[in-house]
Amino acid sequence: MKIAKRIALALFILAILYGVGRFFLVAYDSYVFLPRQPYLQMQTQNTITLKWQTPKAEIGSIDYADTYHVSEKKADRYHSLTLTGLKPDTCYNYKVNATSLNIDNTNRVFCTLNTKKDLERLWIVGDTGEDSTKQRNVYRAMLSYVDNNLSKIDLWLLLGDNAYTSGTQKQYNKDLFDPYKELIKQKNIWAVIGNHDARRWAFYDIFDFPTKGESGGIPSKSEKYYSVDEANFHLVMLDSETEDRSANGKMAQWLAKDLAQNKKNWTIVAFHHPPYTDGSHKSNNPKDSGGRMKEMRENFTPIFDKYDVDLVISGHSHVYERSRLMANHTGMSKRFDEALHVKQPDLHTYTKSLAKTPNSGVIYIVDGSGSKADSGTFNIPELSIGYSASGSVILEITPTTLSEKFLTDNDVVKDSFTITKH
Ligand SMILES: [Fe+2]
Repeated sequence: MKIAKRIALALFILAILYGVGRFFLVAYDSYVFLPRQPYLQMQTQNTITLKWQTPKAEIGSIDYADTYHVSEKKADRYHSLTLTGLKPDTCYNYKVNATSLNIDNTNRVFCTLNTKKDLERLWIVGDTGEDSTKQRNVYRAMLSYVDNNLSKIDLWLLLGDNAYTSGTQKQYNKDLFDPYKELIKQKNIWAVIGNHDARRWAFYDIFDFPTKGESGGIPSKSEKYYSVDEANFHLVMLDSETEDRSANGKMAQWLAKDLAQNKKNWTIVAFHHPPYTDGSHKSNNPKDSGGRMKEMRENFTPIFDKYDVDLVISGHSHVYERSRLMANHTGMSKRFDEALHVKQPDLHTYTKSLAKTPNSGVIYIVDGSGSKADSGTFNIPELSIGYSASGSVILEITPTTLSEKFLTDNDVVKDSFTITKH
């Protein structure tokens, strides 16, 4: 009896020590200080924020538009400086000044959000968190597509799992800030959280997202979900990993209100866990990913249908997959009835009304092969196209057309479609 008690006590102490050790490891990985080059955040029509980190506490400053100089008020190693009074639809050159960090100030340009533009281009890439040859080639293929001219990209979206394997500060420097450093000098990082990012607490520490509707839409009062109004489209970013995914949860309630007031011609929603996938994750398995894909399908796709969302784009499965225009399907694949759920059967050409019409169809895309490609079965009726290929998505949007391309790491456009609105 005495021995049994002693063993139990020893196990208990070991469990406590493991728990305490684990807590300190997670805290260290999440908040360890690292130098970091300046990156753009909180892009709005009139403001932009630069964040950077210097080895020593110092007062930083920014010069922009060859005219203006703004300076911080107190010295710190963590820098965050917001430029205000900017004009919409405008790009500004800028330079960040530091003494203890050698800042690369070549080719630094930021743009405010556009209110009007005839053609906008988005680069949307998922599961980019592995510093790999595939990651570099997916990025290079995009650069080649735009003739190495980054002014041809208006917005850059990251679909989660942005730094493998655990979203630590070190992994963020190695897997995001270093490989994309030229893009980061010019484009705001709009990102959603993935399951790997959520293993540490760095994601919401590194990034600042709108909570008061600063970039468009209605105030969300949370960095975990927000929207962005850009010329012809309304973009909604959701947290399908750590936020309540229930039908009457705060995120779903906010989403319905936000979409109800949206008057843009196009609506795009992005989050990490796809409602439909038969790639390296299976949406028909209710336990896969802790039920997150099932919950997003059951509780959120009805909101997308009701408010006539055009495109839903996710990552998580390290493949490319796509549906046709579909609506009202919240169940498993065995309940999918093509006659009932597919709104238009053509694979590459769709038409919709400019007037928002409930249940007129959403196209679902899985775009999770930004740094690796896994195999998939690609045999569920919701998704007509599935490829085990590394790549990313380019969207080109005009007031009445939305064209999508899946561009592989070897420069092949392997899938494409266009929606035209009348
Ligand atoms: Fe994931």
